[in-house]
Amino acid sequence: MKALVYNGPCDVVVKTMPDAKIERPTDVLVKITATNICGSDLHMYEGRTNMESGRILGHENLGEVIEIGKAVDRVKVGDMVCLPFNIGCGFCENCERSLSGYCLTANPGAAGAAYGFAGMGPYSGGQAEFLRVPYADYNCLVLPPDAKEKENDYVMLSDIFPTGYHATELAGVKPGDTVVIYGAGPVGLMAAYSAVIKGASQVMVVDMHKDRLKLAEKLGAIGIDDSEGGAVGKIMELTDGQGADRGCECVGYQCCGKHGHEVPNLTMNNLVETVKATGTIGVVGVFIPEDPGAKDALAKKGQLAFDFGKFWFKGQKIGTGQANVKAYNRKLANLIHADKAKPSLIVSHELPLEQAPEAYRHFDKRDDGWTKVVLKP
Ligand SMILES: NC(=O)c1ccc[n+]([C@@H]2O[C@H](COP(=O)([O-])OP(=O)(O)OC[C@H]3O[C@@H](n4cnc5c(N)ncnc54)[C@H](O)[C@@H]3O)[C@@H](O)[C@H]2O)c1
Ligand SMILES: [Zn+2]
Ligand SMILES: [Zn+2]
Repeated sequence: MKALVYNGPCDVVVKTMPDAKIERPTDVLVKITATNICGSDLHMYEGRTNMESGRILGHENLGEVIEIGKAVDRVKVGDMVCLPFNIGCGFCENCERSLSGYCLTANPGAAGAAYGFAGMGPYSGGQAEFLRVPYADYNCLVLPPDAKEKENDYVMLSDIFPTGYHATELAGVKPGDTVVIYGAGPVGLMAAYSAVIKGASQVMVVDMHKDRLKLAEKLGAIGIDDSEGGAVGKIMELTDGQGADRGCECVGYQCCGKHGHEVPNLTMNNLVETVKATGTIGVVGVFIPEDPGAKDALAKKGQLAFDFGKFWFKGQKIGTGQANVKAYNRKLANLIHADKAKPSLIVSHELPLEQAPEAYRHFDKRDDGWTKVVLKP
């Protein structure tokens, strides 16, 4: 099968790889019809993780079931399914509590498994013609009959829509809240969309890219351009000097200052500053235990110069981590099915798999107009 393979930093190629196949009776095999490139892929693409070369990337996958293992009960050949990026077993202590992002079975010795992901088990990604889906009865979200027609909406349920929603859950967003979101990439945009859906009274999104901020405004948020600095002051002004009720971090450890160089503690400390006393912060942007590629000595060890004193003094709360996609994907699918949510609004490019290397280059540079790429193998 054709697949997108990671060769090393900033080097990915589409080549022929052995076909994905059923390996265990609980697997299904999916013919991928839509698979996205994600900001998480970029950390790997840039060589800023321990991703092994030779592996197939792609954790945002949707397609048609073409074969089922002997122990699969629920999922049928012909079903259109969207796969959460996390692989859960469904029966461990964490999956039982809907914490499928921290499955204790699928990646032994760690908590959490995913397709085509550094440090999250041996599973191949879906930027390919076919994908093996483990524990398929648990992991497959079987889509309604409009699956084909709304494919670019439903594929967002594999990661960024639930992840954006998770940011607002970690932050405790409730109707009437004011919310500040750092990052207007796909995840930040979906966090803004989720906050709007939840009935936030004011949603502010900070980024340096005008095209992305424009999309944030289209989704009902206020775009705040930090390319010349000043975002913190602007947010304080918009919230009568109090800060927002809730804050979301949707950038991660490679966050940048206004000159485009990395300042790893910037978004976290800006959140402490711009969320009000007793407010809550949800962090879905990825931070990692070790980052040898960082310029900052602390960041190399996965540490941040975090304004803990101010955080403590303000009595703020914080929640972090991978989104437990299964906790949200069914209800968010219902919103798409009922025409009450349209996450494909942020899709900028729909391309064949062959053009994936070019798409990685553009998306990695955050080139103007490259917000979200859906690949169609
Ligand atoms: N927790 C999860 O389950 C989960 C799931 C998916 C993605 N992620 C992570 O979420 C993060 C965002 O993903 P994405 O796909 O939106 O990526 P992206 O890289 O496209 O978007 C990040 C955005 O942040 C902006 N940014 C950089 N520095 C900033 C700063 N100081 N202030 C405000 N904005 C700044 C960039 O300009 C960019 O638009 C990544 O770290 C990704 O790995 C986490
Ligand atoms: Zn993703
Ligand atoms: Zn599990």
